[in-house]
Amino acid sequence: MPKRHTIIYPGSFDPPTNGHLDLIERAAALFDEVIVAVLIHDRKNPLFTVDERLDMLRTATSELQNVQVECFEGLLVDFARRKDARLILRGIRAVSDYEYELQMALMNRKLSPSLETVFMLPAEAYSYLSSRLVKEVWGLGGDIHELVPAVVEQRLDQKRKKT
Ligand code: PNS
Repeated sequence: MPKRHTIIYPGSFDPPTNGHLDLIERAAALFDEVIVAVLIHDRKNPLFTVDERLDMLRTATSELQNVQVECFEGLLVDFARRKDARLILRGIRAVSDYEYELQMALMNRKLSPSLETVFMLPAEAYSYLSSRLVKEVWGLGGDIHELVPAVVEQRLDQKRKKT
């Protein structure tokens, strides 16, 4: 039987953006299985809880049969080992992303030499988009309709009504 290729797409996803979704769709078309992995990371003071992020990602990817959404704690390489995956997916939007991504990829390779990091480019239209900017624009009352999946826009609306 040919080998199945599972790729892990790790991140904070606070919140997921259309850029994340674009990359997930591209990966789903290329690999047998895509595991979107949300880091459980208490120090970052996130806007959304891990459960909320899992829920938004699951809703936004519900049409993609080979995409699973999970969370992980600790080292990414250990999570990849538990999932029997040898590929990590990261998006690169601009040259400014490269240094941080290079460091992470090389550190992960040091920790687990058989793990490969695959870099993919999101659609050009999303090359300026980040979760941080979405939160900033939303926080200041700007329109984020074209920047995030519908479910994320709904959750942001709900959050605004609660505050
Ligand atoms: O969306 P982000 O915040 O850029 O994602 C960063 C993430 C989650 C990929 C990275 O922080 C990570 O893998 N954290 C897990 C801890 C770990 O393995 N650290 C060593 C790798 S450099």
